[in-house]
Amino acid sequence: MIKLEGIDTYYGTSHVIQNLSLEVDTGEAVSILGRNGVGKTTTMRSIIGLTPPKKGRVLINGTDVRGWPPHKIVHLGLAYVPAERHIFPDLSVEENLILAQGQGGGDGDWSLDKVYEYFPVLGQRRRSGGTKLSGGEQQMLAIGRALMGNPTIMLLDEPSQGLSPILVAKVASIVSDLCSQHGITLLLVEQNFRIALAMAGRHYLMGTKSKLQGEVRSQEIIEDQELIKRTLAV
Ligand SMILES: Nc1ncnc2c1ncn2[C@@H]1O[C@H](COP(=O)(O)OP(=O)(O)OP(=O)(O)O)[C@@H](O)[C@H]1O
Ligand SMILES: [Mg+2]
Repeated sequence: MIKLEGIDTYYGTSHVIQNLSLEVDTGEAVSILGRNGVGKTTTMRSIIGLTPPKKGRVLINGTDVRGWPPHKIVHLGLAYVPAERHIFPDLSVEENLILAQGQGGGDGDWSLDKVYEYFPVLGQRRRSGGTKLSGGEQQMLAIGRALMGNPTIMLLDEPSQGLSPILVAKVASIVSDLCSQHGITLLLVEQNFRIALAMAGRHYLMGTKSKLQGEVRSQEIIEDQELIKRTLAV
């Protein structure tokens, strides 16, 4: 479904991602865990084409999309939820959702009603301005908006950022439900491994310059919590 083969990504002359390879199977939920600045967001940007890699292959369902413009990649059924969420501040919750309808070009049947079913708080606040929402509500809106594009692959950048532990748990359980019920393939990046555990079954451990330090299953982390600390010092 998603397969990176030896990608190299730069910001100007700064070589941020060096020879990164990873893969996410159809219907799988996978996380990339790593500290600040290792290249997690840049990995997402490399996949969606915002910062295209200079080398390697970015395979989406077997098609190499490296160098494609982002809108074309999105049309393959990808949705990207950036850490900053990018909610339109002057639009209501509902308007934010309506604008995203069908944008991803996927053929699912997501609608306002279905998004409100998953996130009742968004239904209650449908007339509120986007930025009048709490951090958690904004995260739900950002995810709801991604769903309106009927994605088959969702890229989530640090969904826990700025949320209280209770809200984090809530968002994590909704996302993990919707992946298992709708067969959405999920790649998320996190600094907080506890959240990654709640949402993904397999985890890549990323060190500096995007160098992968290993790969673990949730069960291995649950059995040995020090594993992550030893490997990543997070
Ligand atoms: N637009 C940019 N121009 C130049 N360098 C950048 C740019 N964005 C990120 N970088 C650099 O690239 C490296 C990787 O950044 P990236 O944002 O991918 O890390 P990250 O793992 O997502 O970190 P965080 O956990 O803080 O979000 C960092 O050294 C960062 O300073
Ligand atoms: Mg980041």
